[in-house]
Amino acid sequence: MNASEGVIIVNFKTYVESSGAKAIALARTCESVADETGVTVIVAPPMPDLAAVVAAVTIPVFSQHTDDIKPGSTTGHVSLENVLASGAKGTLLNHSERRLRISEISSLVQKAKRDGLSTVVCTNDLPVTRACAALEPDFVAIEPPELIGGDVSVTTASPEIVGESVRVAKKAFPGVRVLCGAGVKTGEDAAKAIELGTNGVLLASGVVKASDPERVLLDLAAGVQR
Ligand code: G3P
Repeated sequence: MNASEGVIIVNFKTYVESSGAKAIALARTCESVADETGVTVIVAPPMPDLAAVVAAVTIPVFSQHTDDIKPGSTTGHVSLENVLASGAKGTLLNHSERRLRISEISSLVQKAKRDGLSTVVCTNDLPVTRACAALEPDFVAIEPPELIGGDVSVTTASPEIVGESVRVAKKAFPGVRVLCGAGVKTGEDAAKAIELGTNGVLLASGVVKASDPERVLLDLAAGVQR
């Protein structure tokens, strides 16, 4: 992944449209769009489908979440070692729908670096973006929670938070790449994200619930390349 190229991360969440066999089918669609356009498309399938999706595609597969736990006598958690063993290349951390404490994010970012896994730390506002970028993850992804799953893109509803997030994140850690998400659905939204200084978008429903995910992904890919 080239540091300056546009990135699209598709979070499959726990939608029925992107679970089980459908997770593999959607990941293959993402792979074919990545191959056709040259854009980096990363998928984050439901946790039970992680290893199966890794085995099915060549594009990067990320975990939706990781817990800051030692592997062993814990139940219903996901350790960094589990993620590594699945063959995934990275993990989302601190998603609005799966928050972590800052001490846990810090510990996980450090351990992920040690293990060669990429990290995408989700943030909800500017102070959190600043704090999380200072932990030196690969990406921070600004997602105002009230816009998640809606029809208005963060790039239209709050372009200022996207632009400011890029500024505060790069000030805290110049090497960080910045994504934005929430309500992103079109190539126009993705192009605006790039125009605001980000490296791309993190999205879910716009792709997962689309009647034609391939058409949406091609539009998004064209947007990040504009
Ligand atoms: O992780 C992506 C996300 O929270 C945004 O969701 O459905 O608004 O694209 P959505």
